[in-house]
Amino acid sequence: MRILVLSGPNLQMLGTREPDRYGSTTLPEIHARLSALAQELGVAVDCEQSNHEGVVLDRIAGARGAFAGIVINAGGWTHTSVALRDALLAANLPFVEVHLSNVAAREPFRHHSYLSDVAAGVVFGFGAESYLLGLRGLVSRLRAA
Ligand code: DQA
Repeated sequence: MRILVLSGPNLQMLGTREPDRYGSTTLPEIHARLSALAQELGVAVDCEQSNHEGVVLDRIAGARGAFAGIVINAGGWTHTSVALRDALLAANLPFVEVHLSNVAAREPFRHHSYLSDVAAGVVFGFGAESYLLGLRGLVSRLRAA
């Protein structure tokens, strides 16, 4: 079983980006933790980040057939992108939406997600751990299917 883990805009700056809000763990560290967890769970993960929405849309379009599911932190696109929602629906793969911060406790514009109602599940507010919980949840969902 192969899982695609995608991170969207500005997440390459984790570690130094608003550390009080997002923590001091870097994205490469999160990817290393995801790889270790994947090994423990007996799955494979490909972890990628892009600041370019088209790159992420193309990656999602190419995921069908190659991956069993997707874990995605879409960053700011979560609250703005119909195109990202459409790409995930078109790929027809189960996905888990993750966020480091508790978006429900932040500005009102972050309370709406274009992804949540079509996601297999949503995890937010646990810092870097949100990604790991998302991977665990997605794998157990896929194994139950
Ligand atoms: C985020 C939350 C988003 O609202 C924000 O735009 C981000 C990070 C998070 O992981 O908490 O870039 O997705």
